[in-house]
Amino acid sequence: MRLTDCHNFHDFRRLAQRRLPSPIFNYIDGAADDETTYRRNTAAFERCDLVPDVLRGVTNVDLSVTVMGQKLALPFYCSPTALQRLFHHQGERAVAAAAAKFGTMFGVSSLGTVSLEEVRKASSTPQMYQFYFHRDRGLNRTMIQRAKDAGVNVMTLTVDSITGGNRERDLRTGFSIPLKLTLGGMLQFALKPMWGINYITHERFSLPQLDKHIDMGGAALSIGRYFTEMLDPAMNWDDVAAMVREWNGQFCLKGVMSVADAKRAADIGCTGIVLSNHGGRQLDGSRSAFDQLAEVVDAVGDRLDVMMDGGVQRGTHVLKALSLGAKAVGLGRYYLFPLAAAGQAGVERALGLMRAELERDMRLMGRNSIAELTRGNLRFR
Ligand SMILES: Cc1cc2nc3c(=O)[nH]c(=O)nc-3n(C[C@H](O)[C@H](O)[C@H](O)COP(=O)(O)O)c2cc1C
Repeated sequence: MRLTDCHNFHDFRRLAQRRLPSPIFNYIDGAADDETTYRRNTAAFERCDLVPDVLRGVTNVDLSVTVMGQKLALPFYCSPTALQRLFHHQGERAVAAAAAKFGTMFGVSSLGTVSLEEVRKASSTPQMYQFYFHRDRGLNRTMIQRAKDAGVNVMTLTVDSITGGNRERDLRTGFSIPLKLTLGGMLQFALKPMWGINYITHERFSLPQLDKHIDMGGAALSIGRYFTEMLDPAMNWDDVAAMVREWNGQFCLKGVMSVADAKRAADIGCTGIVLSNHGGRQLDGSRSAFDQLAEVVDAVGDRLDVMMDGGVQRGTHVLKALSLGAKAVGLGRYYLFPLAAAGQAGVERALGLMRAELERDMRLMGRNSIAELTRGNLRFR
C-alpha cells in the first residue's frame, strides 16, 4: 500500500497502522474509557441529511473564510496535537508546511515537538498556539510572553484537560512519555524497524515548549505527571479572564461544550470557542461537538466565532458543520494518520483530498461560497 492508494481517512489510517509501532498507532487512534464519544463524533454527522439545490449555475467555488480575524483559504484547519515527531520524523514542520501550502491555519501544541518560534518563522499562514494552564503563574506569564514574541496569531487555551483521560489502550501497551513499554509493547517496536531507524537517525526527541521549564527529556517527569502535578485543576473563569486581558488579542477556548460556558467565554472577551471533546480522549460519554453546535451558535454566534472539531473525515462533514453555523472546522486524526503514513506529502495529499471533496460537495449542493450555506440545507433524522 502506497500513499497514492490513499483516497480517504480510512486508507490513511490503514497505511499509518502499517508504518507505526502499534503503541504509537494506538495512542493516536485511541480514546477514553469505552471510546463511545470517539465513535459518536463521526456517527453524529450521519443523523443529518443534505438537501441540495440544483440548476444554480455554480461556476467558481470560494472556500475562503475569516475566523478570529484570520483570513483562511479553506474552512478547515489543523488542530493542535501533541508529540508529532513521534509519528513521523518531520513532525510539526510537515504539518505547518502543508497547512501553509493550502493557506490554512495550524495549531502548535504545548506538547509539540518543534518550537513554536521555529514553526512560526517557517510559515506565513496563521498559527494557533495551544496553551495548558499551569499552577505556576510565573510560568504561565513567561509562556504567554513567549507566544507574543513569536508572533502567534491566536492564543488557544484548552479547557477540557484539567486531568488526563483514561486511555486504556495506552495502559495496555505502556505508552507514555518517557516510554515505559510493556514486554508486548517492546515487541511491537521491534516489528517496525524502519520507524526505529528514522527515530534514531533524526533530531533527538524533545518538547521545546516546555523543556526549559521541566525536565521531561531526562525522564524526570512523565506527561501523565505533567498533567497531574504542573497543570492547575483549580483554574477558573477569573484566571481565564486575566489571561484574556494579558494576551490582549485573538483568544480562543478549546473544549467548551455548554451554552452557559459559551456565554461566559463571550462575557470575558474571548473571540472564539472550539466546541470539542478532544477527539473523545477525555470525558467518554460527552456529547459530540456537531450535536451541540446549533444551540451554541444560536446563543453566542453573534458575539464570538464558534468552531468545532471531532470525528471530521469528509468534505460533507465540514459542509454540515458550516451549514449549522460553525465558522471553521478543526481536523485532528484526519491529518495525523497521513503524517504518520508519509510525512508532509501525506498531509498535503489529505488536505488536497478534503479541499477537492468540499469543492465538489459545494457544487453538488448548488453553493458558490461558504456564506451561502445555511440550515435550510439540512434535515435531521
Ligand atoms: C494524538 C492526539 C494528540 C492530541 N494532542 C492535543 C494537544 O496536545 N492539545 C489539545 O488541545 N488537543 C489535542 N488533541 C485533540 C485535537 O486537537 C482535536 O481536538 C481532536 O483530535 C479532534 O478530533 P479528531 O481527531 O476526531 O478530528 C489531540 C488529539 C490527538 C488524536
